[in-house]
Amino acid sequence: MSMRTLITGTGHFVPPRVVTNFDLEKVMNTSDEWIRQRSGIVERRHVEEGVMTSDLAYEAALRAIESARIDRSEIDFIIAATLSPDHYFPGIGVIVQAKLGLVPIGALDVRNQCSGFIYALSVADQYIRTGVYKKILLVAAEVQSTNLDYSDEGREMAVLFGDGGGAVILEPHDSTDGRGILSTHLFADGRHVPDLWLEKPSPKDKPTVTEELVKAKKFFPRMDGRNVFKNATEKMPKAVRIALEHNGLTVDDIALLIPHQANDRISQMVAHNLKIPLEKVMRNIDRYGNTTAASIPIALDEAVKEDRIKPGDIIVLTAFGSGYTWASAVLRW
Ligand SMILES: CC(C)(COP(=O)(O)OP(=O)(O)OC[C@H]1O[C@@H](n2cnc3c(N)ncnc32)[C@H](O)[C@@H]1OP(=O)(O)O)[C@@H](O)C(=O)NCCC(=O)NCCS
Repeated sequence: MSMRTLITGTGHFVPPRVVTNFDLEKVMNTSDEWIRQRSGIVERRHVEEGVMTSDLAYEAALRAIESARIDRSEIDFIIAATLSPDHYFPGIGVIVQAKLGLVPIGALDVRNQCSGFIYALSVADQYIRTGVYKKILLVAAEVQSTNLDYSDEGREMAVLFGDGGGAVILEPHDSTDGRGILSTHLFADGRHVPDLWLEKPSPKDKPTVTEELVKAKKFFPRMDGRNVFKNATEKMPKAVRIALEHNGLTVDDIALLIPHQANDRISQMVAHNLKIPLEKVMRNIDRYGNTTAASIPIALDEAVKEDRIKPGDIIVLTAFGSGYTWASAVLRW
């Protein structure tokens, strides 16, 4: 009997405050037309003051637990993925653990930005298949709106990113029916760190926060948009092809492709490159912007709720982001 990892519950939570492109026009030098044309984004969610990443993660986790029809006390491990933790340290895994009342189970934080969900899924898959854990909560969440540079210097990024959280529950499954995670493939190229990063604070500086660094806007994330675009559109299709080949599948076998929602133009180019019709590609960036690690579990949960996935379907996930890191996963739902 071969054991695979099955996603038994999904959930997501986005903050209620909708920020449209027109709202952004009022606070920064941009236009609805520019944002829509370049990214397909129409609106995104921003948290109210004081709401932190662990709050969104907690809400998403509750929804995933409910959807898996388990009692939260059955969860035996937590994996959390985010680039925007509540604090520099510790990560949000332990905060979510305490909020859920699950002391003293282990809580691991994964820091792989837009690829964070698939990296975390890969880790969870190893633990489940080796029998170490039986019910893992994987949660990914981001609060990005509070630390974006809304001036001309940072506007390229400020319009793209949004806040939100998504979660899944993972359990072992006797896979005689072929269902479960079939594979995960992880990649990285650390030569591109400055292409998409938040450079400071860094222990390189003593003290780590100075007025000069604040004036130089070193605490805002920065991106070389063109390079990121070029690499994302190359590397995601490649990762998908490697994954399909590994499983003896073809693009025609895919029921739904869920790419990280970086930019709708990127998703369309990935689909075009793979020759997969857009109807088979999950796209919700118009409503949420780029929610980094949370984008795939949010999209997955929406796909489940919209009945776009049925048992036995081949679902392919792929992501690309800061690092660079990129990844793919194949699931038989
Ligand atoms: C950011 C991105 C949308 C820009 O698209 P682009 O086609 O390279 O941009 P264009 O060349 O058409 O436009 C650049 C111009 O728009 C301006 N601009 C940048 N942001 C703007 C904004 N929010 N509103 C209006 N104008 C803006 C720039 O200052 C530049 O002006 P200039 O030509 O006078 O110097 C695109 O590079 C991209 O999507 N990159 C990948 C981003 C991403 O997905 N990141 C996350 C990965 S996980």
